[in-house]
Amino acid sequence: MNSRRKRKYSTGAAVCSIILVFLSFGAGRLHAQEIIIPLVTENNALVLEAGKAKELSIIYFGKKLANAQEYQLVPSAYRQTSDYSGLLNAAYTPSGSRNLMEPAITVTHADGHQSLDLRYVRHEQQQLDHDVTLLNITLKDPVYDFEVVLHYKAYVKQDVIEQWSVIRHGEKGNVTLHKYASANLYLKAGGFWLQQYHGDWAKEMRPEESKITHGIKTLDSKLGTRANIFQPSVFMISLNAPASEDEGTVLYGALSYSGNFRTDIELDYQDNLRIISGINNYASPYTLKPREAFTTPSFLYILSQKGKGYASRQLHDWARNYRILNGKGERLTLLNNWEATYFDFNENKLKALLRDTKKLGVDLFLLDDGWFANKYPRNNDNAGLGDWQENKTKLPNGIASLVKEAAANGVKFGIWVEPEMVNPKSELYEKHPDWVVKEPAREEHYFRNQLVLDLANPAVQDFVFRTMDDLFTRNPGLAYIKWDCNAVIYNAYSAHLGNHQNHFYIEYMRGLYRVLERIRAKYPDVPMMLCSGGGGRVDYEALKYFTEFWPSDNTDPLERIFMQWEYSYFYPAVATANHVTDWGKQPVKFRTDVAMMGKLGFDIVVAHLAEKDLAYCRNAIREYHSFKHIVWQGDQYRLADPRKDEIASIAYISKDRSEGVIFNYLTSNRYGAGSSRPIRLKGLDPAAMYQLEEISLYPGTTSPTDADRPYSGEFLMTVGFNPEVSGSRTSVVLRLQKK
Ligand code: DGJ
Repeated sequence: MNSRRKRKYSTGAAVCSIILVFLSFGAGRLHAQEIIIPLVTENNALVLEAGKAKELSIIYFGKKLANAQEYQLVPSAYRQTSDYSGLLNAAYTPSGSRNLMEPAITVTHADGHQSLDLRYVRHEQQQLDHDVTLLNITLKDPVYDFEVVLHYKAYVKQDVIEQWSVIRHGEKGNVTLHKYASANLYLKAGGFWLQQYHGDWAKEMRPEESKITHGIKTLDSKLGTRANIFQPSVFMISLNAPASEDEGTVLYGALSYSGNFRTDIELDYQDNLRIISGINNYASPYTLKPREAFTTPSFLYILSQKGKGYASRQLHDWARNYRILNGKGERLTLLNNWEATYFDFNENKLKALLRDTKKLGVDLFLLDDGWFANKYPRNNDNAGLGDWQENKTKLPNGIASLVKEAAANGVKFGIWVEPEMVNPKSELYEKHPDWVVKEPAREEHYFRNQLVLDLANPAVQDFVFRTMDDLFTRNPGLAYIKWDCNAVIYNAYSAHLGNHQNHFYIEYMRGLYRVLERIRAKYPDVPMMLCSGGGGRVDYEALKYFTEFWPSDNTDPLERIFMQWEYSYFYPAVATANHVTDWGKQPVKFRTDVAMMGKLGFDIVVAHLAEKDLAYCRNAIREYHSFKHIVWQGDQYRLADPRKDEIASIAYISKDRSEGVIFNYLTSNRYGAGSSRPIRLKGLDPAAMYQLEEISLYPGTTSPTDADRPYSGEFLMTVGFNPEVSGSRTSVVLRLQKK
């Protein structure tokens, strides 16, 4: 590309008003001048160019330059092979014209042709508030009445970009969209490394890192619901070398969508990386009517030049400020009865658990699965799902009496629901077989003995909304919801959609979000946990409606250290629900310490706790209340990586650097394993003096840490501090306080 050509600059950094640039395109003439559009955040710039032929391309994505005029010089600094198409770095790659690589969009026009070309027509950039800008770029096909508007919302301080597309046409008949990505990125570097995740039930968020080779790597889900269980949509890409916690350039990506997703990561023949992310087009060609707007979900991305840790802190800030419901607010500690009772409970047993809730000292009792259905009582996971009336044998006086009893004990009451699903053995299934997702002529196939309700059907949406609304109306004191989703979709067929089955997966998600919108319009504040047979559904679209998510049914604390470590790259502690259970071999202190690195809960039989264990838990909960604000709203630093070390160490430091909590664990059972070297802290004020005090102590134990000894921030960050983790001190929590 010739850098000496004249380019017109669009304002990038300080956009105070709407800027409109119109070009006479309809007439088929192209404006000769090139337009550079820099999208600037605190540290980075994503620079787009509408070239001479008005193809919109990405010419730069990296650290922002002081002199914005110099972005135009970037392309001339490369001597890579010929492009052949002029589309390798397209900002939204169309297919069927000159494109040779993976497209962002593929269509069949009303006249049956499959060729799409997209050229820049105009853009506008506006300041939404003092930290958020929105850039809209309109692209049109010069031959067909077809347009795509690319939307880039930039959260300036956090370096987060949220990108989505709106697709429309004015053709004479319907257009079929075969692929309809949210975003299409393009990166240049001397090599790329992908960190992706895989899993299954109780094995969520297992990382794998690999060098990206030529061709396409696809991360996707076709499960419909519980879409993340085998693979979540979050990933990282390191540029030039694998990024470490504090060094290197790394891009985080996440599709904000709870259904089928697809991210294609393509290393092209010029050795550049193309990333195309959106709804999975699997079994989903979309029939777009004239003038209907197809809005994709958004793809979120953040680029860090300071390693993975900085990216995660930026993302946490963004999530708490802009996305997670009540991200800056309070959360309730709780006692859950799932593992304490499973389906085997009655009113008396629950009343005893309510008393235990008080005794333990948590805020709320959460009644899990098994409280409903009469014709086919929910006494195991074979029956009753869908029949949301209290089971009269277990709860003769209904939920209301439990809510009342909770109040009498000075605790709150929450309840489990799984409103998107149905057991074939249920009255709901008998009454409304047409509400169930299944191929009528095929044998039914179950996931956890259940099927999925057809949320593409407005009548089903109403049913789900009414189920929730009735619960709240009948029990105004209800203070918490755990929303579960245990099944994937087999035999995808919606009786409601008739011969539009290709819209099913998309309409399901639209239906789900519609229901959640209605619930939140009426009940804006009730905390809700997003759960999906463990951690099968967590993404930033769902978290608009939920205050927290359940990472996994695997609560073995040793496993959780690793799992929470990975989740924490993408989601802040305030949204991460961790429960102390009987999983694992570690003592209750270890289990509680791990659960405190997020939103603390318990799922144990309090009555079975030894006296000292109970005393420990009660004290730990009190202490947790004194530092939870730091864990939830502070900056998280990963200090010692259990995958590389014998210990794990994670710190949460308040924004003003005046206080912190440092969690340290023994993660190896090799002889003599422990913290042989000091752990270097991060994020402190080097000039300030701090004290470290061990908290969360088990009754009868003393700490070797001298709480009165002052250390400078510089010392703690340069030399470090030894928490003295060893076989006899497997879990050590330190409270840091500025003097
Ligand atoms: C799966 C969840 O992950 C568990 O916590 C529990 O709520 C069960 N479902 C109940 O069926």
